[in-house]
Amino acid sequence: MKRVDLKRLLRPHLVKVQTYDALDPLEVLAKKAGIDLDKVIRLNGNENPYTCSPKVFDALANNTSYHIYPDSRQRKMREALAKYTGIGPEHIIVGSGSDEIIDFLLRLFLEPGDKILDSTPTFGMYSFTARVCGGDVVSVPRDELFEIDVEAVREATDSKTKVVFVTSPNNPTGNLATEAQVKALLETDIVVAVDETYYEFSGATVAHLVPEYSNLVVMRTLSKWAGLAGLRVGYAIMSPELVEHIIDIKPPYNINVAAEAALLASLEDVPFLLRNVQLIVKERQRLFSILKDIGSVVPWPSAGNFLLCQFPQGNARSVNEGLARRGIFVRNFSDPRLKDFLRITAGKPEQTDALVRALEEIL
Ligand SMILES: Cc1ncc(COP(=O)(O)O)c(C=O)c1O
Repeated sequence: MKRVDLKRLLRPHLVKVQTYDALDPLEVLAKKAGIDLDKVIRLNGNENPYTCSPKVFDALANNTSYHIYPDSRQRKMREALAKYTGIGPEHIIVGSGSDEIIDFLLRLFLEPGDKILDSTPTFGMYSFTARVCGGDVVSVPRDELFEIDVEAVREATDSKTKVVFVTSPNNPTGNLATEAQVKALLETDIVVAVDETYYEFSGATVAHLVPEYSNLVVMRTLSKWAGLAGLRVGYAIMSPELVEHIIDIKPPYNINVAAEAALLASLEDVPFLLRNVQLIVKERQRLFSILKDIGSVVPWPSAGNFLLCQFPQGNARSVNEGLARRGIFVRNFSDPRLKDFLRITAGKPEQTDALVRALEEIL
């Protein structure tokens, strides 16, 4: 092989970038635990255990347009999402997961040296994407109840700050941001990106403020409530002006034909999907009560499809390993503030039962 010094050509800030800690596939988890694939209990990705709507399987099987490029302006999807959200299609843009919406926003707003703000602990894609764009990340710690410290966030903004991320419910802490907090941040006149990935589980939204504030972006996804994480469809609600700027810079065919068909079929089956959401919320509540009764585990209240759980000091790592040995995978954290915590996705009742049996053995 001819050896060219690629590092010399790479953008300097990307030669050694702190990357995103992504999920291992099921096969890898099964191998780790030494069990069959169908025995893996995967509660580490906030995925939907009920999968997607049966209408999605039909739509994908019957679609005859796979040889045709999709619509770069996403007309059908934006119309369908407008009907679902009650907000006009001119306010909506679709991304390959909400991850891609984060990417679009930061590619649009960040110049190298510009800043984003987030409130940690929180979802890692904001800081990851900012770093890839050459931006700086200012992380303002949440208070002792994991609430956003709005005053500290406001004080941390300066002329280089372009976007502040507000996650509601927050991953991994599960708590909501209030409308008053969002409004206080909107007054800073920077872009406020409110991540409502878990909206269908919480029912709380600030999307109705979009027509009032041109600096508000509300990000959503079909990964969780609609069970489409693998097909990658998210969307965001924002000012029509910003939608057009995103259309100007996005890859024209960013949503493939299969993902488009799946989104449209899901939005034809909302009541079915929301019944699954109810089952998941019920299971999250049941898991919360059981963990509270165990005594040594402290589950934090959550408005998402997951629970952040605090273990006795120094135990989270061995609990995580003990669960993994039994084929149950939950999320641990490198953030020192979360060293005693694990995040557990609400699954099906039988998955909760297996998890609780395992926890009782380990603890
Ligand atoms: C807060 C938050 N935002 C965004 C995402 C990414 O969602 P998507 O699958 O739509 O890219 C996740 C995924 O877990 C998340 O927790």
